[in-house]
Amino acid sequence: KEIVVSGIRSTGILHLGNYFGAIRNYIRMQEEFNCYFFVADWHSLTTHPDPKDLRGNVFRVLAENIASGLDPEKVILYAQSDVPEIAELYLLLNMMAYKGELEKVPTFKDKVRQNPDNVNAGLLTYPVLMSADILIHRGLKVPVGKDQEQHLEMSRNFAQRFNNRYGYLFPEPVAFNYGDDLVRIMSLDGNGKMSKSENENATLYLSDTDDAIRNKIKKAKTDAGPQEPNSLMPDYIANLFTLMRLVSAPETVQTFEDAFNNCGIRYGDMKKQLAEDMVAFIAPIREKAESIRQDQAYLNRIMRQGAEKARESATRTLQEARKLMGINYY
Ligand code: TYM
Repeated sequence: KEIVVSGIRSTGILHLGNYFGAIRNYIRMQEEFNCYFFVADWHSLTTHPDPKDLRGNVFRVLAENIASGLDPEKVILYAQSDVPEIAELYLLLNMMAYKGELEKVPTFKDKVRQNPDNVNAGLLTYPVLMSADILIHRGLKVPVGKDQEQHLEMSRNFAQRFNNRYGYLFPEPVAFNYGDDLVRIMSLDGNGKMSKSENENATLYLSDTDDAIRNKIKKAKTDAGPQEPNSLMPDYIANLFTLMRLVSAPETVQTFEDAFNNCGIRYGDMKKQLAEDMVAFIAPIREKAESIRQDQAYLNRIMRQGAEKARESATRTLQEARKLMGINYY
């Protein structure tokens, strides 16, 4: 079976971008592949260093993943920091990564712009740690949203450089999504991608109440509607259709698409329908996550068990890497 690896940072409550970019793929992939899914707690330290929030956020990500349908019996679920072998591989891979190329990564440049006072080396080498996460299990398929595409390209470069320099060890990992293109869910206000830290009123969280979901969708950005038949869809309208395709019946989507194409669409009606279908989608996940979060003993057990299995695989790869690099003295 092919090896699948993916992670989610512990930076807060999961949202629909995380669900549709990543988790939805996880749920399908667990039936077919050898899956390693983890909470990227080290990665969250680059921007969210508050010790008192960390533990809660880690278990929240875990609970929301399980509530969404991940089965801890089928996949290996763990916290990144429970697998120290990743840190050692990260150190080794840093020798394959050039400062210039790291500085050019768009996500790094964004962070520098957003917070010029905290341009730490962890941010710069973020793609190297991410590569270590994947390569430590010799992962091949990596289910992620569109925003991670460039990071995966760097992972392939590092893997290739290692293989060329020291001998073959790592397959070159590829970003994966069922369906062709990687997913990018936009914020409901039409400003950029949906994210944990941007406008909270334009982000749909897996923990939102029914009323919050309705209110947010009601306020989602629209306009006066197309003026000519078969007009090009503005991206914020296309985003509503994307969400609708994900949670509504195909006939419903078709009806509104037809209405758009012959200029008869009423966005108020569309949003009402989308809101109800979204409530029906999110409510069971929210409720299940709440109940899973009550059972700390269960969550501890999953994490410990996952870490143990992840470390077995990690240790094997690391031993190979050390051997190839000449770090085997005794
Ligand atoms: P993170 O924590 O920002 O997001 C987790 C996953 O959700 C996807 N995602 C989205 N997809 C579509 N539309 C959106 N608006 C949207 N927002 C988030 C992300 O693409 C991601 O798949 N660097 C990663 C975490 C990571 C990782 C890894 C992933 C660390 N190591 C190894 C894969 C393999 C990140 O920050 O994701």
